[in-house]
Amino acid sequence: MGYRVVVAGATGNVGREMLNILSERHFPVDELAVLASRKSLGTEVSFGEKTLKTTDLDTFDFTGWDIALFAVGSEATKQYAPKAAKAGCIVIDNSSLYRYDPDVPLIVPEVNADAITGYSKKNIIANPNCSTAQMVVALKPLHDRATIKRVVVSTYQSVSGAGKEGIDELWDQTKSIYNPVDDKPARKFTKQIAFNVIPHIDAFMDSGETKEEWKMVAETKKIVDPSIKVTATCVRVPVFVGHSEAVNIEFEDHLDEDEAREILREAPGVMVIDKREDGGYVTPVECVGDFATFISRIRQDSTIDNGLNLWCVSDNLRKGAALNAVQIAELLGNRVLQKG
Ligand SMILES: NC(=O)c1ccc[n+]([C@@H]2O[C@H](COP(=O)([O-])OP(=O)(O)OC[C@H]3O[C@@H](n4cnc5c(N)ncnc54)[C@H](OP(=O)(O)O)[C@@H]3O)[C@@H](O)[C@H]2O)c1
Repeated sequence: MGYRVVVAGATGNVGREMLNILSERHFPVDELAVLASRKSLGTEVSFGEKTLKTTDLDTFDFTGWDIALFAVGSEATKQYAPKAAKAGCIVIDNSSLYRYDPDVPLIVPEVNADAITGYSKKNIIANPNCSTAQMVVALKPLHDRATIKRVVVSTYQSVSGAGKEGIDELWDQTKSIYNPVDDKPARKFTKQIAFNVIPHIDAFMDSGETKEEWKMVAETKKIVDPSIKVTATCVRVPVFVGHSEAVNIEFEDHLDEDEAREILREAPGVMVIDKREDGGYVTPVECVGDFATFISRIRQDSTIDNGLNLWCVSDNLRKGAALNAVQIAELLGNRVLQKG
C-alpha cells in the first residue's frame, strides 16, 4: 500500500521537478493529483512515463489524501495549506510562509531529521530556502566535529530560483542583446540580468540586508544550531539552474583542511570534487539534475585561527526545493505514516 499524494504548483519549476523526483526515487504513490491555478486547468505534466492533467487547487478536496507537496508561493500557500492540513493531509511547503513558525518544523533530512515529530502541531512541515538547504548539508558534519562559530557566505544564485518568469527573462533578454530592436527591459528582476549580476534578492529590510540574506541567517539557526552566527550577501547571476556559494567558516576548534575533506566525503548528500588543478571543481552547469550538493575548493583560511573556505554548488530546483521536499515525504513515510 502506498500514498495518495498531491503536488500543488505542478506546472511550475519546482512542481515539475517534484514529479520527476517522486518518479526517479520510486516514491510509493498509489494515486497522484496534480494541481495548479484555474488558468492551467487541463495542462499536461509528466510523471515518469505517464502524462497527467492538472486540476484547480481552488476547488480541490484534500480529504483522504496523505501528503501534499506545495510549491505555489506564499500567497496561495496561505490560502490553501491550512485547508489541506485541516482535512488531515500533511503539507510539505516550499514557500517561506511557515519556515519561522515555532510550531512548524523546518527540515533538511540529512541535518535535523528528528524534528519531523513536530509536524503534528499544524500538520505542516516547511522546506528551507534553496540557498540555505545546500549550505547546511555541508555545515552540519563540520559543526559536529569542530563547532562552527561564524559563517560568511556569498551566493551566486541562478534565475530559476525566481520561478518560470525568471528563466524566461534571462532567455529573452539574452537574445534581445543581439537584436536591439527587440528590447526586453527588466521585469522580474530589478536590473538587467543578461550578462550582469544583481546584488539584490527579495525585499530590502530596515537593517540594509535583504530578506533572502536574512533567511539564510534565521534558517541556519533553526536547522543546525541557534548559536551559529551567519552573515550573507545574496547575488543573482545569469545562470539558468544551480546555485553556487563561497563559504567562509570559523570554528571553535582547529579543523585541518584534509580532515574537513574526509568528513565531507563521508557526509550524507555531499559529493566532494576537489582537485587543485584546472577544472578540478564543480560549476553550476555540472550539477543540474543531480541529487548531491557538491563541495570544492576546500582550503584553510590563514587570516583567522580556525578557519576554512569552501565552494558549494547544488541544483536549486532539487536539493534547494523539490528533492528536499520529497526526502521529507520519505522521512514522514518511514518514521510516521509507515505505509509504503
Ligand atoms: N525555484 C526555486 O529554486 C525554489 C527554491 C525553494 C523554494 N521555492 C519556492 O517554491 C514555490 C514555487 O516556486 P517555483 O520556482 O516553482 O515558481 P513558478 O515556476 O513560478 O511556479 C508557480 C506554481 O504555483 C502555481 N500557483 C501560483 N499561484 C497559484 C494559485 N493562486 N493557485 C494555484 N496555483 C498557483 C502556478 O500555477 P500556474 O502555472 O497555473 O500559474 C505554478 O504551478 C515558491 O514558493 C518558491 O519560493 C522555489
